[in-house]
Amino acid sequence: MRIVHDRRQVAALCREWRRRDSQLLAFVPTMGNLHAGHLALVRHARERGDRVLVSVFVNPMQFDRPDDLERYPRTLDADARKLAEAGVDALFCPEPTEMYPEGCVPARVTVPQLSGILEGVSRPGHFDGVATVVAKLFNLVQPDVGVFGEKDYQQLKLIEAMVAALNFPVLIDAVPTVREADGLALSSRNGQLSESARRRAPELYRSLREAAAACVAEPDRWPAVFAECTAQARERLRESGFEPDYVEVRRCSDLGEPDAGDRELILLAAAWLGGTRLIDNLRL
Ligand code: PAF
Repeated sequence: MRIVHDRRQVAALCREWRRRDSQLLAFVPTMGNLHAGHLALVRHARERGDRVLVSVFVNPMQFDRPDDLERYPRTLDADARKLAEAGVDALFCPEPTEMYPEGCVPARVTVPQLSGILEGVSRPGHFDGVATVVAKLFNLVQPDVGVFGEKDYQQLKLIEAMVAALNFPVLIDAVPTVREADGLALSSRNGQLSESARRRAPELYRSLREAAAACVAEPDRWPAVFAECTAQARERLRESGFEPDYVEVRRCSDLGEPDAGDRELILLAAAWLGGTRLIDNLRL
């Protein structure tokens, strides 16, 4: 596996792959601290592309709190070993100054309709940071396929919207969330949970399943019933020691508030547990 730190080198490498044999390039952007969920994205990318490139870059622009950026786990050596074993062709792991060069007038990509709701309410600026860094990475790599996880559903929708609105010539593939045996969605943040918080953490997914079952049981009362089901889920989370940020039912397509005729819906939740913020989602 090639390891590349320089943005011009990664652009040249990807250009070379494309030029040599018109090889299809699948790209998996990550912030490292790789777990089985990331490796599922890599497996998908290997099925989709002749070449697979993974980036590991802890993007300062998407952190709204400096302590969160500081605390974010950096495990590059272990990540590189996992990616090499998974058959990745190249790893791009730039320094922040490589992605945000000094003296370069900053620019920002924003998808206003999706960046200020749900996660965007408690994390101002986060999605501009995500859209901007993914646009920069897409411009360097110019992949045929970009692979993202459904675990970060709002991020997935944001990237799809950005690609459609700005005519990026890339297909976005979504890979289902990978879960622990007890239902907890895999996340780099799970490692920050204390032992007792880790035991309680699967309650987030259980609350979503219970709320989804309650919504599905009363299709004639959609969308009115959603407020009751999500209020119950928030209450259940509070009883289990979480501080819920939101539990909401939204349209799958654009995360808008559901109307009476909408049937493609998703429950999304974010909640704090002992200083760690967890998110999860479940389609109705
Ligand atoms: O999901 C992530 O790990 C990040 O938000 C991403 C897409 C790599 C952008 O920094």
